[in-house]
Amino acid sequence: MRIGILGYGTVGSGLVDLIDNNKGKREIEICSILIRDIEKYKGKKHFEKITTNIDDIFEQDIDILVELIGGLNPSLDYIKRALNNKIHVVTANKDLLAEYGDELINIANDNEVSIKFEASVAGGIPVLKPLIESLEGNNVDSINAILNGTTNFILSKMYDENLSYNEALKQAQDLGFAEANPDADVLGYDAARKLSILSTLAYDNRVYWKDVYLEGITDIDEKDIEYAKKLNCKIKLIGQSKYRNEKVSAFVRPVLVGNESILSKVDNEFNAVILNGDSVGELSFIGKGAGKLATGSAVYSDIIDILDNRLSCVDSFTRDIIKVNQVIDSKCS
Ligand code: NDP
Ligand code: HSE
Repeated sequence: MRIGILGYGTVGSGLVDLIDNNKGKREIEICSILIRDIEKYKGKKHFEKITTNIDDIFEQDIDILVELIGGLNPSLDYIKRALNNKIHVVTANKDLLAEYGDELINIANDNEVSIKFEASVAGGIPVLKPLIESLEGNNVDSINAILNGTTNFILSKMYDENLSYNEALKQAQDLGFAEANPDADVLGYDAARKLSILSTLAYDNRVYWKDVYLEGITDIDEKDIEYAKKLNCKIKLIGQSKYRNEKVSAFVRPVLVGNESILSKVDNEFNAVILNGDSVGELSFIGKGAGKLATGSAVYSDIIDILDNRLSCVDSFTRDIIKVNQVIDSKCS
Protein backbone atom coordinates (compact mmCIF):
# COMPACT_ATOMS: atom_id res chain seq x y z
CA MET A 1 0.00 0.00 0.00
CA ARG A 2 1.63 3.23 -1.17
CA ILE A 3 0.62 6.40 0.61
CA GLY A 4 1.29 10.11 0.23
CA ILE A 5 1.00 12.21 3.39
CA LEU A 6 0.03 15.88 3.35
CA GLY A 7 1.38 17.46 6.56
CA TYR A 8 4.15 16.42 8.92
CA GLY A 9 3.08 18.27 12.07
CA THR A 10 1.55 16.81 15.24
CA VAL A 11 -0.71 14.22 13.58
CA GLY A 12 1.48 13.61 10.51
CA SER A 13 4.49 12.74 12.64
CA GLY A 14 2.33 10.57 14.93
CA LEU A 15 1.16 8.63 11.90
CA VAL A 16 4.70 8.23 10.56
CA ASP A 17 5.84 6.85 13.95
CA LEU A 18 3.01 4.31 13.94
CA ILE A 19 3.79 3.20 10.39
CA ASP A 20 7.47 2.78 11.32
CA ASN A 21 6.68 1.00 14.61
CA ASN A 22 4.39 -1.48 12.85
CA LYS A 23 6.79 -2.30 10.01
CA GLY A 24 6.84 -6.06 9.52
CA LYS A 25 3.26 -6.37 10.76
CA ARG A 26 1.66 -4.15 8.12
CA GLU A 27 3.37 -3.01 4.95
CA ILE A 28 2.62 0.63 4.27
CA GLU A 29 5.07 2.53 2.10
CA ILE A 30 5.37 6.26 2.66
CA CYS A 31 6.13 7.66 -0.79
CA SER A 32 6.18 11.38 -0.16
CA ILE A 33 5.29 13.92 2.56
CA LEU A 34 4.10 17.44 1.75
CA ILE A 35 4.99 20.43 3.95
CA ARG A 36 5.46 24.17 3.37
CA ASP A 37 8.68 25.21 5.10
CA ILE A 38 11.44 22.68 4.43
CA GLU A 39 13.87 24.37 6.87
CA LYS A 40 11.73 23.29 9.83
CA TYR A 41 12.10 19.61 8.95
CA LYS A 42 15.88 19.30 8.58
CA GLY A 43 17.08 16.35 10.66
CA LYS A 44 13.62 14.76 10.84
CA LYS A 45 13.33 11.12 9.80
CA HIS A 46 12.23 10.45 6.21
CA PHE A 47 13.60 13.89 5.30
CA GLU A 48 14.43 12.56 1.82
CA LYS A 49 10.71 12.01 1.19
CA ILE A 50 9.69 15.55 2.10
CA THR A 51 8.54 17.89 -0.63
CA THR A 52 6.91 21.29 -0.95
CA ASN A 53 5.41 20.45 -4.34
CA ILE A 54 2.01 18.73 -4.41
CA ASP A 55 2.72 17.32 -7.88
CA ASP A 56 5.51 15.18 -6.36
CA ILE A 57 2.82 13.43 -4.28
CA PHE A 58 0.56 12.67 -7.23
CA GLU A 59 3.45 11.50 -9.44
CA GLN A 60 4.18 8.63 -7.03
CA ASP A 61 1.36 6.27 -8.05
CA ILE A 62 -0.13 6.28 -4.54
CA ASP A 63 -3.10 4.21 -3.36
CA ILE A 64 -4.07 6.53 -0.49
CA LEU A 65 -3.73 10.26 0.09
CA VAL A 66 -3.61 11.06 3.82
CA GLU A 67 -4.58 14.71 4.36
CA LEU A 68 -3.21 16.13 7.63
CA ILE A 69 -2.61 19.79 6.83
CA GLY A 70 -5.98 21.05 8.03
CA GLY A 71 -8.10 24.03 6.94
CA LEU A 72 -10.29 24.36 3.88
CA ASN A 73 -7.75 25.32 1.27
CA PRO A 74 -5.75 23.89 -0.38
CA SER A 75 -6.93 20.67 1.36
CA LEU A 76 -10.21 20.68 -0.55
CA ASP A 77 -8.47 20.86 -3.95
CA TYR A 78 -5.95 18.18 -3.03
CA ILE A 79 -8.61 15.78 -1.77
CA LYS A 80 -10.82 16.31 -4.83
CA ARG A 81 -7.83 15.74 -7.08
CA ALA A 82 -7.10 12.45 -5.30
CA LEU A 83 -10.68 11.19 -5.41
CA ASN A 84 -11.10 12.13 -9.06
CA ASN A 85 -7.94 10.13 -9.78
CA LYS A 86 -9.41 7.11 -7.96
CA ILE A 87 -7.07 7.46 -5.00
CA HIS A 88 -8.55 6.67 -1.56
CA VAL A 89 -8.46 9.48 1.01
CA VAL A 90 -7.98 9.43 4.78
CA THR A 91 -8.35 12.73 6.61
CA ALA A 92 -8.55 14.15 10.14
CA ASN A 93 -9.90 17.45 8.85
CA LYS A 94 -13.21 18.17 10.57
CA ASP A 95 -13.33 21.75 9.23
CA LEU A 96 -13.40 20.41 5.71
CA LEU A 97 -15.81 17.54 6.44
CA ALA A 98 -18.27 19.74 8.30
CA GLU A 99 -18.37 22.10 5.32
CA TYR A 100 -17.91 19.85 2.27
CA GLY A 101 -18.37 16.30 3.62
CA ASP A 102 -21.37 15.45 1.45
CA GLU A 103 -19.76 16.78 -1.72
CA LEU A 104 -16.57 14.81 -1.05
CA ILE A 105 -18.47 11.62 -0.25
CA ASN A 106 -20.37 12.04 -3.55
CA ILE A 107 -17.13 12.37 -5.47
CA ALA A 108 -15.68 9.34 -3.66
CA ASN A 109 -18.76 7.28 -4.47
CA ASP A 110 -18.73 8.34 -8.12
CA ASN A 111 -15.13 7.20 -8.35
CA GLU A 112 -15.67 4.02 -6.31
CA VAL A 113 -13.03 4.91 -3.73
CA SER A 114 -13.22 5.58 0.03
CA ILE A 115 -12.94 8.74 2.05
CA LYS A 116 -12.36 7.89 5.72
CA PHE A 117 -12.33 10.28 8.64
CA GLU A 118 -12.34 8.51 12.03
CA ALA A 119 -9.75 10.97 13.44
CA SER A 120 -11.92 13.97 12.64
CA VAL A 121 -14.15 13.41 15.67
CA ALA A 122 -12.79 12.81 19.19
CA GLY A 123 -9.18 12.17 18.08
CA GLY A 124 -8.08 8.70 19.16
CA ILE A 125 -11.50 7.42 20.23
CA PRO A 126 -12.94 4.99 17.71
CA VAL A 127 -16.47 6.37 17.69
CA LEU A 128 -17.60 6.85 14.07
CA LYS A 129 -17.05 3.24 13.11
CA PRO A 130 -18.89 1.75 16.13
CA LEU A 131 -21.67 4.30 15.63
CA ILE A 132 -22.20 3.22 12.05
CA GLU A 133 -21.28 -0.44 12.12
CA SER A 134 -22.31 -1.66 15.54
CA LEU A 135 -25.53 0.23 16.19
CA GLU A 136 -27.46 -0.77 13.09
CA GLY A 137 -30.37 -2.06 15.19
CA ASN A 138 -30.81 1.26 16.96
CA ASN A 139 -32.29 4.65 16.47
CA VAL A 140 -29.86 6.98 18.21
CA ASP A 141 -31.75 9.88 19.74
CA SER A 142 -29.19 11.86 21.73
CA ILE A 143 -25.51 12.67 21.97
CA ASN A 144 -23.85 14.24 25.01
CA ALA A 145 -20.19 14.90 24.52
CA ILE A 146 -16.92 16.61 25.29
CA LEU A 147 -15.46 17.03 21.83
CA ASN A 148 -12.57 19.44 22.16
CA GLY A 149 -9.33 18.46 23.88
CA THR A 150 -7.88 21.97 24.08
CA THR A 151 -10.80 23.52 25.94
CA ASN A 152 -11.17 20.50 28.22
CA PHE A 153 -7.44 20.74 28.98
CA ILE A 154 -7.73 24.48 29.73
CA LEU A 155 -10.77 24.05 31.99
CA SER A 156 -9.09 21.11 33.81
CA LYS A 157 -5.88 23.05 34.43
CA MET A 158 -7.83 26.09 35.67
CA TYR A 159 -9.78 23.82 38.04
CA ASP A 160 -7.06 21.44 39.26
CA GLU A 161 -3.93 23.60 39.18
CA ASN A 162 -5.35 27.14 39.39
CA LEU A 163 -3.63 28.02 36.11
CA SER A 164 -4.83 31.14 34.34
CA TYR A 165 -6.73 30.73 31.07
CA ASN A 166 -3.72 32.01 29.08
CA GLU A 167 -1.19 29.76 30.83
CA ALA A 168 -3.38 26.72 30.22
CA LEU A 169 -3.96 27.63 26.55
CA LYS A 170 -0.19 28.00 26.04
CA GLN A 171 0.37 24.50 27.47
CA ALA A 172 -2.32 23.04 25.20
CA GLN A 173 -0.64 24.67 22.20
CA ASP A 174 2.81 23.41 23.21
CA LEU A 175 1.42 19.88 23.51
CA GLY A 176 0.00 20.04 19.96
CA PHE A 177 -3.67 19.85 21.00
CA ALA A 178 -4.79 23.25 19.72
CA GLU A 179 -5.69 24.15 16.14
CA ALA A 180 -3.32 26.38 14.14
CA ASN A 181 -5.72 29.19 15.05
CA PRO A 182 -6.88 28.31 18.58
CA ASP A 183 -9.97 30.53 18.21
CA ALA A 184 -11.57 27.49 16.57
CA ASP A 185 -11.10 25.61 19.85
CA VAL A 186 -11.89 28.25 22.46
CA LEU A 187 -14.87 29.78 20.62
CA GLY A 188 -16.46 26.35 20.22
CA TYR A 189 -16.34 26.07 16.39
CA ASP A 190 -14.24 22.91 16.48
CA ALA A 191 -16.64 21.16 18.86
CA ALA A 192 -19.64 22.31 16.79
CA ARG A 193 -18.07 20.89 13.62
CA LYS A 194 -17.45 17.56 15.33
CA LEU A 195 -20.96 17.52 16.79
CA SER A 196 -22.38 18.15 13.32
CA ILE A 197 -20.41 15.23 11.84
CA LEU A 198 -21.47 12.90 14.68
CA SER A 199 -25.10 14.03 14.56
CA THR A 200 -25.28 13.66 10.79
CA LEU A 201 -24.12 10.06 11.08
CA ALA A 202 -26.19 9.29 14.18
CA TYR A 203 -29.53 10.69 13.00
CA ASP A 204 -29.20 9.94 9.29
CA ASN A 205 -29.83 13.61 8.57
CA ARG A 206 -27.50 16.36 7.43
CA VAL A 207 -26.76 18.61 10.41
CA TYR A 208 -24.88 21.81 9.58
CA TRP A 209 -22.37 23.09 12.12
CA LYS A 210 -23.43 26.69 11.60
CA ASP A 211 -26.90 25.78 12.89
CA VAL A 212 -25.50 24.55 16.21
CA TYR A 213 -26.06 27.06 19.03
CA LEU A 214 -22.58 28.10 20.14
CA GLU A 215 -20.83 29.59 23.16
CA GLY A 216 -17.10 29.18 23.77
CA ILE A 217 -15.05 29.30 26.96
CA THR A 218 -13.37 32.69 26.56
CA ASP A 219 -15.54 34.32 29.23
CA ILE A 220 -14.78 31.69 31.88
CA ASP A 221 -12.50 33.11 34.58
CA GLU A 222 -11.11 32.18 38.01
CA LYS A 223 -14.32 33.33 39.70
CA ASP A 224 -16.46 30.93 37.66
CA ILE A 225 -14.13 28.07 38.59
CA GLU A 226 -14.39 29.05 42.28
CA TYR A 227 -18.22 29.04 42.12
CA ALA A 228 -18.20 25.68 40.33
CA LYS A 229 -16.06 24.20 43.11
CA LYS A 230 -18.43 25.53 45.77
CA LEU A 231 -21.31 23.80 43.96
CA ASN A 232 -19.38 20.49 43.72
CA CYS A 233 -19.37 20.89 39.97
CA LYS A 234 -16.91 21.31 37.14
CA ILE A 235 -17.29 23.49 34.07
CA LYS A 236 -17.14 21.51 30.83
CA LEU A 237 -17.62 22.58 27.22
CA ILE A 238 -20.49 20.26 26.35
CA GLY A 239 -21.78 19.42 22.91
CA GLN A 240 -25.29 18.04 22.93
CA SER A 241 -27.73 17.11 20.22
CA LYS A 242 -31.14 15.49 20.31
CA TYR A 243 -33.36 13.99 17.65
CA ARG A 244 -37.05 14.45 18.42
CA ASN A 245 -40.06 14.41 16.08
CA GLU A 246 -37.82 14.35 13.02
CA LYS A 247 -36.00 17.51 14.15
CA VAL A 248 -32.49 17.96 15.48
CA SER A 249 -31.58 20.47 18.17
CA ALA A 250 -27.95 21.01 19.08
CA PHE A 251 -25.70 23.22 21.21
CA VAL A 252 -22.10 23.63 22.26
CA ARG A 253 -21.61 25.68 25.40
CA PRO A 254 -19.99 25.66 28.86
CA VAL A 255 -22.11 23.69 31.33
CA LEU A 256 -21.88 23.12 35.09
CA VAL A 257 -21.52 19.37 35.45
CA GLY A 258 -22.07 17.64 38.82
CA ASN A 259 -19.01 15.87 40.25
CA GLU A 260 -20.84 12.53 40.27
CA SER A 261 -21.46 12.50 36.50
CA ILE A 262 -19.31 10.60 33.97
CA LEU A 263 -18.49 13.77 32.07
CA SER A 264 -17.01 15.50 35.12
CA LYS A 265 -14.36 12.75 35.33
CA VAL A 266 -13.20 13.34 31.75
CA ASP A 267 -10.26 15.71 32.17
CA ASN A 268 -7.34 17.27 30.28
CA GLU A 269 -7.22 16.38 26.56
CA PHE A 270 -9.63 13.49 26.99
CA ASN A 271 -12.96 13.52 25.14
CA ALA A 272 -16.19 11.65 25.78
CA VAL A 273 -19.13 10.73 23.62
CA ILE A 274 -22.28 9.39 25.29
CA LEU A 275 -24.90 8.08 22.88
CA ASN A 276 -28.36 6.81 23.55
CA GLY A 277 -29.68 4.07 21.29
CA ASP A 278 -33.28 2.86 21.63
CA SER A 279 -32.21 -0.79 21.78
CA VAL A 280 -28.84 -0.75 23.47
CA GLY A 281 -29.43 2.18 25.84
CA GLU A 282 -26.62 4.46 26.89
CA LEU A 283 -23.08 3.91 25.54
CA SER A 284 -20.00 5.89 26.60
CA PHE A 285 -16.79 6.30 24.62
CA ILE A 286 -13.93 7.95 26.52
CA GLY A 287 -10.31 8.49 25.53
CA LYS A 288 -7.72 10.93 24.25
CA GLY A 289 -9.39 13.44 21.96
CA ALA A 290 -6.21 15.11 20.72
CA GLY A 291 -2.46 14.58 20.47
CA LYS A 292 0.15 13.05 18.22
CA LEU A 293 -0.08 9.30 18.75
CA ALA A 294 -3.72 9.12 19.84
CA THR A 295 -4.87 10.87 16.68
CA GLY A 296 -2.26 9.02 14.62
CA SER A 297 -3.85 5.80 15.87
CA ALA A 298 -7.24 6.72 14.36
CA VAL A 299 -5.66 7.74 11.05
CA TYR A 300 -3.62 4.53 10.99
CA SER A 301 -6.71 2.39 11.54
CA ASP A 302 -8.46 4.02 8.57
CA ILE A 303 -5.45 3.20 6.40
CA ILE A 304 -5.51 -0.41 7.60
CA ASP A 305 -9.24 -0.61 6.80
CA ILE A 306 -8.49 0.33 3.23
CA LEU A 307 -5.46 -1.95 3.16
CA ASP A 308 -7.63 -4.86 4.25
CA ASN A 309 -10.16 -3.83 1.65
CA ARG A 310 -12.77 -3.44 4.32
CA LEU A 311 -14.89 -0.60 3.03
CA SER A 312 -16.62 0.21 6.27
CA CYS A 313 -20.29 0.97 6.52
CA VAL A 314 -19.39 4.65 6.79
CA ASP A 315 -19.26 4.60 3.02
CA SER A 316 -22.66 3.08 2.38
CA PHE A 317 -24.23 4.93 5.27
CA THR A 318 -23.04 8.34 4.22
CA ARG A 319 -24.17 7.50 0.71
CA ASP A 320 -27.73 7.57 2.05
CA ILE A 321 -27.33 10.59 4.28
CA ILE A 322 -26.51 12.91 1.46
CA LYS A 323 -29.92 12.32 -0.05
CA VAL A 324 -31.76 13.40 3.07
CA ASN A 325 -32.88 16.96 3.62
CA GLN A 326 -31.52 19.07 6.38
CA VAL A 327 -33.88 19.05 9.37
CA ILE A 328 -32.14 20.95 12.10
CA ASP A 329 -34.59 22.75 14.31
CA SER A 330 -34.37 25.89 16.35
CA LYS A 331 -31.63 26.41 18.91
CA CYS A 332 -31.66 24.02 21.83
CA SER A 333 -32.55 25.54 25.14
P1 NDP B 1 0.08 20.97 12.56
O1 NDP B 1 -0.07 22.44 12.48
O2 NDP B 1 0.85 20.40 13.67
O3 NDP B 1 0.74 20.43 11.20
C1 NDP B 1 0.28 20.84 9.95
C2 NDP B 1 1.24 20.30 8.89
O4 NDP B 1 0.70 20.57 7.62
C3 NDP B 1 2.63 20.92 8.92
O5 NDP B 1 3.59 19.95 8.55
C4 NDP B 1 2.54 22.00 7.85
O6 NDP B 1 3.77 22.30 7.24
C5 NDP B 1 1.64 21.33 6.85
N1 NDP B 1 0.88 22.28 6.05
C6 NDP B 1 -0.03 23.19 6.47
N2 NDP B 1 -0.55 23.86 5.43
C7 NDP B 1 0.07 23.40 4.34
C8 NDP B 1 -0.02 23.71 2.94
N3 NDP B 1 -0.83 24.65 2.48
N4 NDP B 1 0.77 23.02 2.08
C9 NDP B 1 1.60 22.07 2.53
N5 NDP B 1 1.74 21.73 3.84
C10 NDP B 1 0.98 22.38 4.72
O7 NDP B 1 -1.40 20.37 12.51
P2 NDP B 1 -1.94 19.05 13.22
O8 NDP B 1 -1.08 17.92 12.88
O9 NDP B 1 -2.23 19.37 14.64
O10 NDP B 1 -3.38 18.91 12.52
C11 NDP B 1 -3.51 18.34 11.23
C12 NDP B 1 -5.00 18.04 10.98
O11 NDP B 1 -5.45 17.08 11.94
C13 NDP B 1 -5.93 19.24 11.14
O12 NDP B 1 -7.01 19.08 10.24
C14 NDP B 1 -6.43 19.10 12.58
O13 NDP B 1 -7.66 19.74 12.80
C15 NDP B 1 -6.57 17.60 12.67
N6 NDP B 1 -6.54 17.04 14.00
C16 NDP B 1 -5.56 17.40 14.88
C17 NDP B 1 -5.49 16.83 16.11
C18 NDP B 1 -4.42 17.16 17.09
O14 NDP B 1 -4.42 16.62 18.21
N7 NDP B 1 -3.47 18.03 16.75
C19 NDP B 1 -6.48 15.81 16.54
C20 NDP B 1 -7.49 15.50 15.53
C21 NDP B 1 -7.50 16.11 14.32
P3 NDP B 1 4.68 23.55 7.72
O15 NDP B 1 5.15 23.18 9.10
O16 NDP B 1 5.78 23.60 6.73
O17 NDP B 1 3.78 24.74 7.74
N1 HSE C 1 -7.84 21.08 18.41
C1 HSE C 1 -8.56 19.87 18.54
C2 HSE C 1 -8.90 19.63 19.99
C3 HSE C 1 -7.74 18.73 18.01
O1 HSE C 1 -8.31 20.31 20.85
O2 HSE C 1 -9.77 18.80 20.28
C4 HSE C 1 -8.49 17.42 17.97
O3 HSE C 1 -9.50 17.47 16.99
